[in-house]
Amino acid sequence: MAKSTAHPNIALIKYWGKEDPTLNLPASPSLSLTLSGLKTSTSVRLDPKLKQDVFILNGKKIESPKISTFMNKVRELAECQTFSVIETRNNFPTSAGHASSASGFAALSVACSQEYKLNLNHDQLSRLARIGSGSATRSIDEGLVAWQCGTDKTSFGTSIVSSDQIPLVVLSFTNDKSPKKISSTKAMEIVKKTSPYYDSWIKRSTADFRDALELVKNSDWQNLLALGEANSLGMHAATIAAKPSIIYFSPDSLKLMDQVRKIRAEKKLPIYFSLDAGPNVKVFTLKDKLAAVEKEFKDWDYTLSFPGEGAKLID
Ligand code: PMV
Repeated sequence: MAKSTAHPNIALIKYWGKEDPTLNLPASPSLSLTLSGLKTSTSVRLDPKLKQDVFILNGKKIESPKISTFMNKVRELAECQTFSVIETRNNFPTSAGHASSASGFAALSVACSQEYKLNLNHDQLSRLARIGSGSATRSIDEGLVAWQCGTDKTSFGTSIVSSDQIPLVVLSFTNDKSPKKISSTKAMEIVKKTSPYYDSWIKRSTADFRDALELVKNSDWQNLLALGEANSLGMHAATIAAKPSIIYFSPDSLKLMDQVRKIRAEKKLPIYFSLDAGPNVKVFTLKDKLAAVEKEFKDWDYTLSFPGEGAKLID
């Protein structure tokens, strides 16, 4: 049996548009931070008696076409027909904008590489994770991770700053536990086809990525977070304008976003928010401002994350 762990990541510059939906090749590059506080643990065990894969998520057997497609890809690479029992546990709500698919497919790629004797190197692992879920390509790595556009061979994640060099901290709020209204894949498809702002979003996000790399190079962390907040709002603007309109924000998301901006203006604290395809808000700040920031959110339920490590095998 192979066991692995991986952490979700939160993108400062979002992946929100596919150039190739089968290979999950992005239409623009993205930049994320791997989060230490949230974790997925996975085991994969080959079982020659099985007629199909068995997938157990948080103790419950479930069907998942996405996992089946992924496992078929693994078997094709391994030239091995054997099915597996896959057990996965998340220490956070699944499918509510905490990027469980990112850590899920990153952990699954690492465990499958071992159990199916694929012996994949870093780039191959990241490419395999990408087939499961685009953002999973970035959860293979630690710290700040850049994911470039390209072809199947060239599009994968690379850590550009290791976790110990990043003075950032993230509060992942669980302001809404309900599962996501519409999957990222479906939403991206609708936005690409119908949003009048899709093309400008992709153009702008590509420029944001370049600017973000420059800010990272200059260790200008606060402006990086400010750019991240604006980029997240840009993604949601394009999404809200689609037909049918997709709104991931809940009333509590709006309340939190408002609070973040008020605290920033009134208390002069460097805090910035970001939301993925769900209602849960992530708040970024600098490590040395954490105590002051935490005082402001005493009544909220959140998990603290420092820059996290990449996906790995465990005993
Ligand atoms: O990996 P997917 O297909 O679930 O897409 C994730 C997209 C966002 O989380 C909204 C943005 C990102 O870059 O992670």
